[in-house]
Amino acid sequence: MKKTLRDIDVNGKKVIVRCDFNVPLDEAGHITDDTRIVGAMPTVEYLMNHGAAVILLSHLGRPKGEANPKYSLKPVADALTKRLGTEVWFKSVASVVDEEVKREAASLKAGAIMLLENTRFRKEETANDAEFSKELASLADIFVNDAFGSAHRAHASTAGIASYIPAVSGFLIEKEVKFLGGALDDPARPFVAILGGAKVADKIKVIENLLAKADTLLIGGGMTYTFLKSKGYEIGKSILDADSVDLAVSLLKKAEEKGVELLLPVDVKAGRDFDNDTESAYYDSDAIPADWMAMDIGPKTEALFADKIRAAGTILWNGPMGVFEMPNFAAGTRAVAEAMAEAKGTSIIGGGDSAAAVEQFGLADRMSHVSTGGGASLEFIEGKTLPGIAVLEDKS
Ligand code: 3PG
Repeated sequence: MKKTLRDIDVNGKKVIVRCDFNVPLDEAGHITDDTRIVGAMPTVEYLMNHGAAVILLSHLGRPKGEANPKYSLKPVADALTKRLGTEVWFKSVASVVDEEVKREAASLKAGAIMLLENTRFRKEETANDAEFSKELASLADIFVNDAFGSAHRAHASTAGIASYIPAVSGFLIEKEVKFLGGALDDPARPFVAILGGAKVADKIKVIENLLAKADTLLIGGGMTYTFLKSKGYEIGKSILDADSVDLAVSLLKKAEEKGVELLLPVDVKAGRDFDNDTESAYYDSDAIPADWMAMDIGPKTEALFADKIRAAGTILWNGPMGVFEMPNFAAGTRAVAEAMAEAKGTSIIGGGDSAAAVEQFGLADRMSHVSTGGGASLEFIEGKTLPGIAVLEDKS
C-alpha cells in the first residue's frame, strides 16, 4: 500500500502535484472532455483546504520537447480557475521553470494555487533527466502523484522528481488502484472481464493476465474476427489481425486448460462496407458471408453477455464491442454499457475507448469506477508495475 495525502501533514507545506491534464481540445483550443480535470479535484481541494500551497504539473499532448502554443496548458489554467472559483496563477514559460515561476512558487501562500506550463515543452521531461527532476522538486517540500493516466511513464515529473522530496499518492491514483487493483487481486466472484479492441497482439498480455484471474472472459470488438478465423470460420471482409491467428488458437487453448469460460460473439451485425449508412444485416458468427464485414456484436450476443454481466460480482471492461463511433454499429457497445450500469456487481471501466463510450452514452455516473487512464490502465491490467506509482512511499 502506498502512502497518500492522508498519511502526511501538508499544513504550511508547498506541495507539487503531478496531474494528468492531457485533455482533448477542439480546433479553437476549447476542452471537449474535462473528466481528467474533474478527477483531480479531490486532491487539489483537499490540499487547498488543509493549508498547503499547491503547485500543479502536467503534460498535454506530445510537443516533443519544444514549446508549442498548440499544447499550452493555458486552457486548463482557465478551466481550473473557473472550477475552483479562485485564480490559478499561470504563465506560459517555454522552459517550464524560470526565475518568475521560482519567485511565485516561493511566495505562494497556503490555500493558493499555480499551474506550470506543459512539462513536455522540455525534452528533459520524457528523458527523465535528473537536473530537470531536481529543478521541479526544488519548488516544493512534498511531491504528490495523482496522474494515473501518466503513471506508466517514467518521466521527470512522474517519477524522477520523487528521488528528491517525499512522494505520496493523490486520491485519484488511490481510487484507481483500489478499483483496478481490487478487481485483479481480490475480486468479488464471479469475475467477468469484457475485452474489445482491434488487435489480439495489443491485448495479449491483458488476456493472459486475466486468464489467471477471471472466471469468464467475454471477447468482442475487432479482435473477435481473428478468434473466429482461428476456429476456421469464414469472416468475410471483417478486420483480421492475420499475424495473430496462431496466437488466438493458443489463447483459446489456455482458457480451456485453466477452466476459464471464454465466450466469443455468437452473432454479429455486418455491413457491405465500412460506412455507417451501408446496407446491414445480422448473421450468426459461423455464417458471415464472404463479401460482408462484421462491425458489431449481434442481439443474441448482447443478451448472452448481459446475462453474464448481471450475474457477476465484479465486471471489468476494456475495449468497445464494435465500431461505436458509427451510430448504426454502436448497439453492442451500448448494450454492454447498459448491462454494466444496471449490474449489482462492481462495474469498472478500464479507460480509453470504453470510457469514451460510457461517457457518450451518458452512463459514466452509473459505473462503480471509470478509469482516467488509457495506456496506463491497460498496463495496469496487464499486471505491470507502473513507475509513477512504484516511486511513491510505502505505508509502514
Ligand atoms: C494518456 O492520454 O494516455 C496519457 O496522458 C499519457 O499520454 P502519452 O501516451 O502521450 O504519454
